[in-house]
Amino acid sequence: MFRTHNNGELSLKNVNEKVKLSGWVQTVRDKGFVIWVDLRDRYGITQLVFDESRSSEKLMEEARTLGREFVIQVHGTVIERESKNPKNPTGEIEILVENLKVLNQAELPPFTIEDETDGGEELRMKYRYLDIRRNPVKNKLIFRHKMAQEIRRYLSDQDFIEVETPVLIKSTPEGARDFVVPSRMNPGQFYALPQSPQTFKQLLMVGGLDKYFQIVKCFRDEDLRADRQPEFTQIDCEMAFVEQEDIMQVFEGLTAHLLKTVTGKEFGSFPRMTFDEAMRKYGNDKPDIRFGMEFVELSDLVKGKDFKIFDEAELVVGINVEGAADYTRKQIDELIDWVKRPQIGATGMIWIKYQADSKLTSSVNKFYSEEDLSTIAERFGAQPGDLMLLMSGAATKVRTQLSALRMELGNRLGLRKPDEFAPLWVVDFPLLEWDEETGRYHAMHHPFTSPKTEDIPLMETDPGKVRANAYDLVLNGNEIGGGSIRIFDKELQSKMFDLLGFTPEAAEAQFGFLMNAFKYGAPPHGGLAFGLDRLVAILDGNEVIRDYIAFPKNNSGRDVMIDAPAPIADEQLDELNLKITE
Ligand code: AMO
Repeated sequence: MFRTHNNGELSLKNVNEKVKLSGWVQTVRDKGFVIWVDLRDRYGITQLVFDESRSSEKLMEEARTLGREFVIQVHGTVIERESKNPKNPTGEIEILVENLKVLNQAELPPFTIEDETDGGEELRMKYRYLDIRRNPVKNKLIFRHKMAQEIRRYLSDQDFIEVETPVLIKSTPEGARDFVVPSRMNPGQFYALPQSPQTFKQLLMVGGLDKYFQIVKCFRDEDLRADRQPEFTQIDCEMAFVEQEDIMQVFEGLTAHLLKTVTGKEFGSFPRMTFDEAMRKYGNDKPDIRFGMEFVELSDLVKGKDFKIFDEAELVVGINVEGAADYTRKQIDELIDWVKRPQIGATGMIWIKYQADSKLTSSVNKFYSEEDLSTIAERFGAQPGDLMLLMSGAATKVRTQLSALRMELGNRLGLRKPDEFAPLWVVDFPLLEWDEETGRYHAMHHPFTSPKTEDIPLMETDPGKVRANAYDLVLNGNEIGGGSIRIFDKELQSKMFDLLGFTPEAAEAQFGFLMNAFKYGAPPHGGLAFGLDRLVAILDGNEVIRDYIAFPKNNSGRDVMIDAPAPIADEQLDELNLKITE
């Protein structure tokens, strides 16, 4: 037996007990006559003591050979500590060691294995297994596990069954690029890794398993950001004989349950907002509603005053930053530079200050009288002490730019509190999205999403106006899940493929299996998928999902620990019929 207890559980109750402990050496403090060693494992740290007056000379010598991260086993007696450490759950006791065994030596780790480490990001990624020994990383993985357990229990209790779907499949149309896998046995042919199990879960509904879920890896070859990984995990769900409302109720219930588990608070029914409203009020289909700064449209008020930029703009829109009228010229210029960065792409920004003395000044005093400014301030609902920021341009573009500014200010002003949660449903997404590059409509969600019944006639006349039975679940400005009611009628599905520019032959080649299944009695169905990594990160007060994945990829999609992707041997290429011929 390597251990009778772990390193996080002994206390004064155990004094005088003989124990065996194992773990890693965190620190060695050698005071000459006494040596203290902090022994660490997943559960905590227990202090070991070697004492000249009570330990043999041989044991003292052995203790002196210990280095950081050595793996050791000790036998000893639990004793009460003279100077107690109330911060450590085992801080009232220590182990007077009687026997020490080095199970494995360790090289000096490339960074300190402590809560505050000296290791940079890339180095810690390379030695991720060492990083996982640190509390901040380990605790995130444990948190993820707990959430996943809650999710499984909650859904199982509601009669959902977890079904595994294949990973070597044919391309799933979720809008990103596929990762592909060559087939050795079928020369020149490829599997695709699933971007989601979308078509399979629909087939499970045809199969009659009316409530399905799966905690499942998905793969998307897309540009990476803090909230995106090329392989990530979904809580993928589907239900049959349901309407949009039924689905929203179930997954609102699950989300509220998780929020309660984390915060102890009840979350009543979640607010809902249409896609159009979200875009108008926040310039964003995943608004963070923990703070205000809602968009105020001003075109009608500001046009016709000889200010050319506003006169020529499709939309003039702004936000009111409460209490920011004391921003200096330098601070405002810095904000203007911020929106002009290529990532945001604004051409400029106008400011109006509602000074504490109620005087209104602006960067466009030449064109707008104080009376004009006062009307504008009124529309904003601004108070003395506020700063109004105005942007103009093509409507969609300027909304996106102002949304970025709103989020930036939210961060800078500390309005995005990590321990405050504001879930929101965004509903009534457009069915289609026009793509300038290809000059075609794309499915905004995916091609299986059903249009709203009342909008079906518009598919012929004005496809861009068709709304979908699609919904996203947003938490603190992040899209944590999305889903839709599916088309279950073969004719309507064909019409959809047609709108998306598939010839009947192409649709047959890519989705014939699904169309075929729909011939044999497909029930009405719909579902949703959460991004587990995102959900867990946000519930834990973070937005960087990498920290919640045991072995994540870096920003270039590389695993720097195992050094992948990597070339493969010529023979392997040959076998896969992938040999590049000169
Ligand atoms: P969707 O594409 O919206 O829907 O994905 C569902 C959720 O998965 C998360 N997500 C990601 N998380 C991390 N890294 C990524 N690269 C990434 N991409 C997506 C998001 C998102 O809300 N089959 C549909 C669901 C359905 O219709 O039922 C689907 O996959 O949190």
